[in-house]
Amino acid sequence: MSDAILDTSSRMVVRRVPFSYTDTATAGTAPGHWNTNSPEFSQIVNSASLAMPYLEPYLIRSMREARKQITDLALQKDLDLYVAQEATHFRQHRKFNDTLAAAGYQAIGPIEDRLRRDYEVLGTKRSLRFNLAYAEGFESMALAIGHMLIEDRVFLFGDSDPAVASLVLWHFVEEIEHKNVAFDVFAHLHGSYFWRMVGLVYATSHIFWRTGQGYRALLKEDGLWRDLKSRLRLAKVLVRIIKNILPRWFHIWRPSYHPSQVADPKWGRDWAKLFDANPDGAANLDTSRLRETVPVAVPSSVVGTQAQKDGL
Ligand SMILES: [Fe+2]
Ligand SMILES: [Fe+2]
Repeated sequence: MSDAILDTSSRMVVRRVPFSYTDTATAGTAPGHWNTNSPEFSQIVNSASLAMPYLEPYLIRSMREARKQITDLALQKDLDLYVAQEATHFRQHRKFNDTLAAAGYQAIGPIEDRLRRDYEVLGTKRSLRFNLAYAEGFESMALAIGHMLIEDRVFLFGDSDPAVASLVLWHFVEEIEHKNVAFDVFAHLHGSYFWRMVGLVYATSHIFWRTGQGYRALLKEDGLWRDLKSRLRLAKVLVRIIKNILPRWFHIWRPSYHPSQVADPKWGRDWAKLFDANPDGAANLDTSRLRETVPVAVPSSVVGTQAQKDGL
C-alpha cells in the first residue's frame, strides 16, 4: 500500500476542533440528512453518533479502573492520552447530537435510553476483564472502520455537509492514532486470546445491533423505511461497508494480531498536518475534493468557533 505508513509509535494529540453545525439545519432536504446523496448513510452515522456519549464514557471508566493496576509508566501515559481523546470525541458528538434532537426526532429519546441502560449494566455488572475486552474489541473494530471511512471517503462523504463529514473523519483519524492503547492495556492486565475474541464479537454485535435499531427508527421517522428506492440504497451502502470491513475484521482474529501491524493511512496523517496549520479548515473539509490525496479545506471558509466557546 503506497499511501500507508507503518508506524508502531503512539502519536496521540488531543485537539479542540472548531466544528460548527450552523449550516447543517439548512443544508439538507430533511433534518439530519447531512449527506443529501445518501439519507441512509446519514442516518447510519447519526445513529452511531448517538451512541458515542454513552459508549465512550463507558470505555473511559473501564480504562480508568484499569489504570490503578498498571505499573508501566509509558502505558499509563498512553492511557491518559487515550482518555483525553475519547472525552473530546463524545463531547463533540453530543454537540452534534443536540442538533439532531433540535430537529425534532422523537426516536432519539428511546435510542439514548437503551444505550444509557446498556452501558450502565455493562459497567456495573461485568468484570473489568470483560469490559477491557469489550474496549479492545471496539477499538480494533473502530480501527477497521476508520480505514474504511478514509479509503471510501469520496463515496461516503462526497459533496456532503463539510462540518459533519469533518467531525466523523476527525474522530476516526484519532481512533487510528490511539489504535494500540486498549490492546496494550488488555494485554498488560489479562492478555487472554479467548477473552479478546469474546470482547471483539460482543462489541461488534452490540454496536451493530444498536446502530441498526437506531437508523431504522430514524429512517421510519423520515418516512423512508418503507420506500423501496431508499431500502435499495441502504442495502447498497451496507453491503459496501461490510465488504470493506470484513477482511480487516477477520485480521483481528489472528492470535498474533497487534493493531500496530495495521499501517496508518497517509490521508489521516495529512489531516493532522492540516489541523496544525489551519484548525478551522480541518473542521470544514471541502467534500467536493475528497478524491485528492491530501485533505483540502473549504476555500476561505467562514466558520464559527462555537466549539472553542463551549470549551470543547
Ligand atoms: Fe472515540
Ligand atoms: Fe477509540
